Amino acid sequence: MKRIGVLTRDCSGINAAIRAVVRTACFYNIEVLGVLRGYEGLMNGEFIPLNRRSVSGIIDQGGTILKTVRSENFQTKSGQEKAVKVIQEKGIQGLIVIGGNGSLTGAHVLASKFNIPTIGIPATIDNDINGIDLSIGADTAVNVALDALDKIRDTAMSMARIFVVEVMGRDSGYIALQVALAGGCEEVLVPEKDMDMEKMCEEIVEGNKKGKKSWIIIVAEGKAKAADIADTITQRTALETRIAVLGHIQRGGRPTAQDRIMAARLGSYAVEVLREGRTDECVCLKDNRLDTIPLELAIKPKKIEEEAFYKLIKILT
Ligand code: F6P
Repeated sequence: MKRIGVLTRDCSGINAAIRAVVRTACFYNIEVLGVLRGYEGLMNGEFIPLNRRSVSGIIDQGGTILKTVRSENFQTKSGQEKAVKVIQEKGIQGLIVIGGNGSLTGAHVLASKFNIPTIGIPATIDNDINGIDLSIGADTAVNVALDALDKIRDTAMSMARIFVVEVMGRDSGYIALQVALAGGCEEVLVPEKDMDMEKMCEEIVEGNKKGKKSWIIIVAEGKAKAADIADTITQRTALETRIAVLGHIQRGGRPTAQDRIMAARLGSYAVEVLREGRTDECVCLKDNRLDTIPLELAIKPKKIEEEAFYKLIKILT
């Protein structure tokens, strides 16, 4: 194998993964082309050569040095054919795709429909890649949200207030559940579970009568807007409520040690797997050991264990 490409989405730890891919490839004298702006850039032939030096000093940087955009064109047959033509013209013999569900779906298409040797690396704050425990970026996102939450709790306790904190996750309650448990929150609302506003408001009123004055409720963005939840609470309990929407701060920032270590291991392993002539697989850690699962399985919807988490949060509150 003489030349490979690397393409990414966006979250913390991706730069560390690019670095691992590039330096492992260099170790084997394989050239690396970085694909700019995701699948959109791939279709348009936007590349930069990457060498040992071009990835120095990025291990602690959030985001992606390759930039990225969502590409609707790549979801069409003509867009995919265009990308395949570019890959062939550029002499790219293997592709490593670092990203979440959408990116890995694209990787599976290239591998299964067009026979482009392609390996995926899971990287998404939503941690919704099926069949694997943890994606790159999720640990950093949870820590960023938790740091913000700890600050909010200071003022919630001081001023005896109810806070509704909205975290990211359009279809996934992963960050919400982790943050609620690690932050000792009273309630968590996630897309995977029905919410019972009436019961929650009754609990707040009852708690308030017994002297519990401060509450923190975490809501995943895909479940409801923090502002709507806060309005309902105020209407039903007559208690003052404030909101905080954490937004994209959760997707950036210095990757945690865990994300960097996982990025180093998975990035390097993806090159090894490609070199072995394998394709259509997603690298991952199983029992802390390097492994792979078929991309076809990785892109299926993931079922999270929300009930057990939810129960624990309620027991500990
Ligand atoms: O998929 C990761 C994610 O951060 C989700 O949690 C969120 O809903 C979405 O991306 C936001 O996408 P965008 O940055 O395009 O608004």
